[in-house]
Amino acid sequence: MSKKYNVAIVGASGAVGREFLRLLHQRDFPIASLRLFGSERSAGKKIIFRDSEIEIELLKEGDDFKDIDIAFTSAGAGVSKKFADTITRHGAVMIDNSSAFRMDEDVPLVVPEVNGEDAKHRPRGIIGNPNCTTIQMLVAVNPIYKISPILKIRVSTYQSASGAGASAMAELEKQISQYASGSPLTVEKFPHQLLLNLIPQVDIFLDNDYTKEEMKMYNETRKILHDDRIEVSATCVRVPVLRAHSEAIWVETESPVDISDVRRAMESAEGVVLADNPAEALYPMPFAAAGSDPVFVGRLRKDIASPTGITLWTVGDQIRKGAALNAVQIAEYLIRQKNI
Ligand SMILES: NC(=O)c1ccc[n+]([C@@H]2O[C@H](COP(=O)([O-])OP(=O)(O)OC[C@H]3O[C@@H](n4cnc5c(N)ncnc54)[C@H](OP(=O)(O)O)[C@@H]3O)[C@@H](O)[C@H]2O)c1
Repeated sequence: MSKKYNVAIVGASGAVGREFLRLLHQRDFPIASLRLFGSERSAGKKIIFRDSEIEIELLKEGDDFKDIDIAFTSAGAGVSKKFADTITRHGAVMIDNSSAFRMDEDVPLVVPEVNGEDAKHRPRGIIGNPNCTTIQMLVAVNPIYKISPILKIRVSTYQSASGAGASAMAELEKQISQYASGSPLTVEKFPHQLLLNLIPQVDIFLDNDYTKEEMKMYNETRKILHDDRIEVSATCVRVPVLRAHSEAIWVETESPVDISDVRRAMESAEGVVLADNPAEALYPMPFAAAGSDPVFVGRLRKDIASPTGITLWTVGDQIRKGAALNAVQIAEYLIRQKNI
């Protein structure tokens, strides 16, 4: 009989945590036991998984992770930092969705389609799951990178409300009903009203006038590709979409690449679905991509502003491939490699 694993989800009540539960069930993940953790807000509540009810336990320091093999953590960077020792001290592999350790040298940062091998070297027992926008962008541009190294990426993101968590998505839904009934809008989760608006700020501004989210795309891309030549200039925008992020991407390769080679590479790339037929108005859109696994690519064309440029549009469900699915795929990769 094939091996089964004791699994924990930290942050089980959240947007990403709930997606973990759906994915572990849908993908028939080899689970021997499943434990769920949260704060005082959700501890004691019960969640149905497969045919049983599982009570959410309070996350606390101690030996609760003694028998856990794999811990999927998605409760924010502060929680990951505070509880990493508790989670990993008895040998559990912590696959962390937060930004807490992503840029630490002794923590691999992994997109399985791009650098799965890196997950095998994890001196602290922690594997970083990259930022959702970085995962999606790298799955989409990796087929081009394999033809010729990419030197520059310019990207503009269109990020959905749920990227900021379950309560941010609920706020956009509330704004829709408040607007329809003529009531004043509740604005708590974002710096401005999101409904009927675009907010060109995701996360806080840094000294160089980029936001933290934009610099994550710069730094994480270089780490995942092991390439310090590549430069990424991002503008991240929050849009009034409930779920699934979109990105307009312009890449410049080291040598010119043939667009038909890129198209062929996209058609066979792992994790990518090419949806690109302008004559039929076929291109990826968040409405259609929400809830699905692949990174969709469309509007693929030669960039008329650069002899080595390719431009494309990509859409992906950031709670799935941008978070929970990528983490589950890392675990599945390690299982296939008999490395866990
Ligand atoms: N949403 C996305 O698209 C996305 C994408 C990529 C990465 N991420 C990352 O994933 C993480 C979770 O995001 P989310 O969107 O799922 O947020 P969320 O919907 O706000 O959920 C947050 C989760 O964290 C738990 N939590 C908070 N404080 C805790 C504590 N002290 N101890 C234990 N659990 C605690 C909450 O449990 P209680 O309900 O019990 O408080 C809840 O389950 C964040 O680091 C985020 O940056 C999110």
